[in-house]
Amino acid sequence: MKKFVVALDGPVAAGKGTLGRRIAVQFSFAYLDTGGLYRGVALRMLRSGDALDDVAAMVSQASAITPADLEDPELRAEGTGEAASVVAPRPELRAALLAYQRNFANHPPNGAAGAVLDGRDIGTVVCPDAEVKLFITASAEARAQRRHAELRGRGEDIRLEIVQADLAKRDARDSSRAASPLAAADDAHLLDTTKMDIEAAFAAARQIIADRLND
Ligand code: DC
Repeated sequence: MKKFVVALDGPVAAGKGTLGRRIAVQFSFAYLDTGGLYRGVALRMLRSGDALDDVAAMVSQASAITPADLEDPELRAEGTGEAASVVAPRPELRAALLAYQRNFANHPPNGAAGAVLDGRDIGTVVCPDAEVKLFITASAEARAQRRHAELRGRGEDIRLEIVQADLAKRDARDSSRAASPLAAADDAHLLDTTKMDIEAAFAAARQIIADRLND
């Protein structure tokens, strides 16, 4: 039976991760943070001393990715995110990670009835037939403040201006790349969380999904 897929796309630090996990718990769906795959490849490359423009190394590291890579504490570090945004535009890498993502959506772990995938191109490229597509946005200021608070909470001593500049650079890279740029699918529901707290955003997303499940 076809699994129920929720595609959650949007720019960096828009709140996709928090929202995706909450949705997954609410509906007993499996959750995949696809940014973690790109971060996982980048981290493997950094640790192996691979040059970040070495496409063969990129593809080989991608084929070795396992769920354990997604649990690595270094995955969320700023340096890993920066390296991930350098390798993510490569079409060869995107193609190499496509099978992992589609397999997760079609066969979610533990026999779950559905899957939530969060990323940049889930609704447009990875799962264009997803039952629900959500595009989460928030102003650049709101996203920088959230990311800053998150990094400080993890003990990273970093200035807000640095986080802001970093975010702007990553937004530009995500949106301007030729291969699968960040974009809302035509049939995506737009959710601007600039003035919403997580509860309000979750309530809105839950309603959209529940309506579709009851169709
Ligand atoms: O969401 P994140 O910060 O963990 O993503 C890390 C990088 O990977 C980011 O630069 C965007 C990229 N990415 C992507 O290109 N496609 C996805 N589906 C998910 C993330």
